[in-house]
Amino acid sequence: MIVCRSISEIRSSIAASKKPTDTIGLVPTMGFLHNGHMALVEQAKAKASCVIATIYVNPSQFGEATDLDAYPRNESRDLVMLEAAGVDTVLIPDTGDIYPEGDETIVETTRLANTLHGKVRPGHFRGVTTVVARLFNIVQPDFAFFGEKDFQQLQVIKRMVRDLHFPIQIIGVPTVREADGLAMSSRNVRLPEADRAAAVVLSQALTQAAHLARQETTISAIDDLIRGMINSESRADLSAVDIVWSDTLEPAQGPLTKPIAIMLSAQFGDVLLIDQREIAP
Ligand code: PAJ
Repeated sequence: MIVCRSISEIRSSIAASKKPTDTIGLVPTMGFLHNGHMALVEQAKAKASCVIATIYVNPSQFGEATDLDAYPRNESRDLVMLEAAGVDTVLIPDTGDIYPEGDETIVETTRLANTLHGKVRPGHFRGVTTVVARLFNIVQPDFAFFGEKDFQQLQVIKRMVRDLHFPIQIIGVPTVREADGLAMSSRNVRLPEADRAAAVVLSQALTQAAHLARQETTISAIDDLIRGMINSESRADLSAVDIVWSDTLEPAQGPLTKPIAIMLSAQFGDVLLIDQREIAP
């Protein structure tokens, strides 16, 4: 596995090894890898002849410096996992390279970035699209893989790729969960034991919502059920419950007549966790 630490290094590495028939699959990450990330790598291996992963904790998508500083890192373990999974090349750039001095260009999906979770985390999705657009230009992949756990992120990236005509196919990968249902996340290690145990309420609320959806029901009944369950967990501080129609991502209301996506975010202490699930009636 080749490890590149600069843009010029990865560009020359790709130029030297890429055959005309090769396809490149890109898996962007912020490191501290777990089985959720590895599911993306697995899909990339299945779809592309060359897999490139990136590890970069992107400052522009973090609101508070404390959250950025607290973001867990373990580069040597990440590299062992990526190599074992058969990744060809890893890019670990530094901030001066990604954001050159005097940098002033941003990429933003102006509506989608500022609805739903974007309201809870102002500027977050602008930071994501700005860095992902740069990674796309650096690596020029044929396919790029993103988790459905970050449902809005996946939609924002699909919209950016469509609007800016990036010749890249975006592939969504289903959420990988712990045995008790908690969505795997690099942030989970920051949860003290009691919060870790309480955090299961997010996936439980989504499961109960899916049960309710099997009967004739309404969006407000689903919303009440979810809020009731999460509010009854004293360690959870609910940030947002967003229920949207899967096809338009517009807020859903009235009877449940077609598939919805439910996006949850809640604070456990100073750790913000998110989960999502798509549910068909
Ligand atoms: P990060 O949180 O490291 O996640 C990298 C990718 O792994 C994202 O596409 C995310 O949706 C996916 N992922 C995380 N947990 C998952 C799980 N339990 N199951 C399936 N996929 C999962 O998301 C980011 O980094 C950044 O915003 C990034 C896209 C790299 C831009 O900086």
